[in-house]
Amino acid sequence: MEKETLNFLEDINGLFYLTAPDARDIMLRFHKEMGLGLAGKESSLKMIPSFVGRPRGNEKGNFLAIDLGGTNIRILAVRLDGEGRAEPLAMSRYPISHEAMTGTGVRFFDFIAGSVEAFFKEHNIEAKRLQNLGFTFSFPVVQSSIASGRLISWTKGFSASDVEGEDVVELLVRALKRRGLGFIDVVALINDTVGTLVAKSYNDHICDMGVILGTGTNAAYPEKIERIAKYQGPRHQDEMIINIEWGGFNKLRRNIYDETLDASSFNPGEQRLEKMVSGMYLGEIARLIIVDMIKEGLIFNSPIPEIFSQPYGLTTEHLSLAAQGQISHELGFTHMSQTDKDAILEVFRIVSNRSARIAATAISAVVTWMDKKIESNHVIAIDGTLFEKYPGYSQNMETMLADIFGDSAQKIRLEKEKDGSGIGAAITAAIASYSKNKSLIARLPWLRHR
Ligand code: GLC
Repeated sequence: MEKETLNFLEDINGLFYLTAPDARDIMLRFHKEMGLGLAGKESSLKMIPSFVGRPRGNEKGNFLAIDLGGTNIRILAVRLDGEGRAEPLAMSRYPISHEAMTGTGVRFFDFIAGSVEAFFKEHNIEAKRLQNLGFTFSFPVVQSSIASGRLISWTKGFSASDVEGEDVVELLVRALKRRGLGFIDVVALINDTVGTLVAKSYNDHICDMGVILGTGTNAAYPEKIERIAKYQGPRHQDEMIINIEWGGFNKLRRNIYDETLDASSFNPGEQRLEKMVSGMYLGEIARLIIVDMIKEGLIFNSPIPEIFSQPYGLTTEHLSLAAQGQISHELGFTHMSQTDKDAILEVFRIVSNRSARIAATAISAVVTWMDKKIESNHVIAIDGTLFEKYPGYSQNMETMLADIFGDSAQKIRLEKEKDGSGIGAAITAAIASYSKNKSLIARLPWLRHR
């Protein structure tokens, strides 16, 4: 590789590399923001009470779930055996069209209800036997109960009109009625991070964090109720899961590429951590660096592939495939010199490694918030394609944990929780319908004797 190219890459590495002292500094800022968020004060971490705690593992029955928040919507029927096993009886996945994401809210919710209807038909399910539904809606929503909440603002490129500020359960219920599915009772509304934590802790009581590393990124953890100063609702249990919305954390060192990406994004100034970490953005950060290398004449004597000239043309999937050696033709690698390829792969490595190291730092912040000296074991349930599919990603996270904590890092286990967000919605529906019945019994004492 030419000396100039090597120098350029070294500079880039300097801009993107996160050291252990950097991480410790970030953790302190994170704790400060967590405290402010829990107190209801100005903070880049929303710290949203979910109105639900971790399950006991004995929740039982068949439940419906909608899981929405990435590129697909998933509808599931889940059986809970009451002994910690949750088994999907049926599941369908439907891609969310650009029109549904960005059109009117009515169209968006009609699409959701239409997907439920298609699911019933596809699996030949006698609809009325499955009535209680858990709704995973993976956006920042301020909840007012376990089954209601208003969308604060869209993230991840969604923009359907007339939804921000509205109760998304009400909008869903209306759309279900329009489809003749009014018999469905939407008993729970949760975030995907809450779902992931709930799904894992259904059979693993050590689990105390749910994390998503996919199109977006975020996490949830159980908090002691008395520490949630802003929470005014009923206090039936000792703990409540908090949806951190860590994608919004804005106390990270940013570089010129982060600023450029943010300035031309649909939500400038928001979701700053998400823009440095999640699958929606890594390809674009890498592309911006490569465009600079092209401008400086460091790579490409041959024609420049299209993918590098279109904003968001380069996706995280391309990065992931290239890292697996499945060099994609679209990257133009077939006509490229070995040194150009190496330079590009190094850019991909730098960008994805920063993502993994920030994710591990944020996890470390939450773990030390719960357990300052890491005296207990912690299982972190993680879902999302970045964690699941990107080669070396989870190892890079583990390296960062070891850099921060040394040997104690072994007490923190990162575990994949596939489809946790949907299954967690079904388990939460079970918790919610159970407490609904309980309050009904309390109000109508004669029911107790039946
Ligand atoms: C975005 C959403 C958040 C969600 C995350 C992962 O950050 O705002 O609610 O949990 O993406 O899907």
